[in-house]
Amino acid sequence: MARIFSGVKPSGHLTLGNYLGAMRRWAEVDQHRAEALFCIVDLHALTVAHDPARVRRLTRQAATLLLAAGLDPERCTLFVQSHVDEHARLSYLLECVATDGEMRRMIQYREKSAREQAKGGSVRLSLLTYPALMAADILAYGTEEVPVGDDQAQHVELSRDLAVRFNQRYGRTFVVPRATVPGVAARVMDLQDPTSKMGKSHESGTGIVYLLDEPEVVRRKILRSVTDSGREIVYDRAGKPGVSNLLEILAACEGGDPEELSGAYESYGALKKDAADAVVELLRPLRERHRELAADTEYVDEVLRSGAERARAVARPRVDAAHRAIGLLPPG
Ligand code: TYM
Repeated sequence: MARIFSGVKPSGHLTLGNYLGAMRRWAEVDQHRAEALFCIVDLHALTVAHDPARVRRLTRQAATLLLAAGLDPERCTLFVQSHVDEHARLSYLLECVATDGEMRRMIQYREKSAREQAKGGSVRLSLLTYPALMAADILAYGTEEVPVGDDQAQHVELSRDLAVRFNQRYGRTFVVPRATVPGVAARVMDLQDPTSKMGKSHESGTGIVYLLDEPEVVRRKILRSVTDSGREIVYDRAGKPGVSNLLEILAACEGGDPEELSGAYESYGALKKDAADAVVELLRPLRERHRELAADTEYVDEVLRSGAERARAVARPRVDAAHRAIGLLPPG
């Protein structure tokens, strides 16, 4: 059976982008067809200025939402990254395989470090080395497939390069992984700025649908989304980013094709209304299930505890092997 690994970072409230680009597939498809591990990657949330209590809160909330979205602890392993030491242990070895240049080329590093500097803040070193930790997350488990949204494809590509390089230098230790990206909604865009990604850590929330937004709030955000100049409804991501984003969201909710859907609409108003209805209905069961599970923190904690135990057992032998291969003397 294929091995799948993916993760979500508790750096903000989870969004419709996280759900359509990643989480929904994990629950509906991936956990049923593979040996799947899903991780709340809390160490990654420390790479930018953060509030400790908030990260802790968002970590439990992300776990609760993943369970509410349908991850079944009987079918997959759900755990928190910092509960399994192997991630940090392997990350350092991969930093010794990666180069400074390839880390600096990462688009997310360039964007985020520019944003931090523009705010007058300093850039944490961990923001630069982030992809080594992400590669460790993936490679520790012998992962073959990494289901992610489009924005993470470059990081998965780097994980491939590091696996290949490590294997060449030190002997075959890692499986070489590949990213799998959804056909529709691989990059859900901000409703107020459809040329940038709907991202959970953006400051203004009016263009972002959060999974736990009240239905009226979801509706309002979608109805007020910016559209493009001209009146025709056509699917053209470069020329008509606003309309195309709504068509993708609607197609992802209904399982259709954005291009085909565009033929069914003559006005922005009708498209917005249908997209709003579809998203509200899509999120309704998730919100309801989240409410039940949030009342049972003991259950969620127990899922995470046993998930970490299982994850550790999978990761440890490979990470130990990597330590030996790279030249470290095993403890006696
Ligand atoms: P994160 O937390 O930003 O996002 C989690 C997942 O959601 C996808 N995603 C989106 N998909 C479509 N449209 C969007 N607007 C959108 N926003 C987010 C992301 O592509 C991702 O799949 N570095 C990763 C977390 C990570 C990871 C890993 C992932 C750490 N280690 C190992 C896979 C394997 C991140 O920050 O994702």
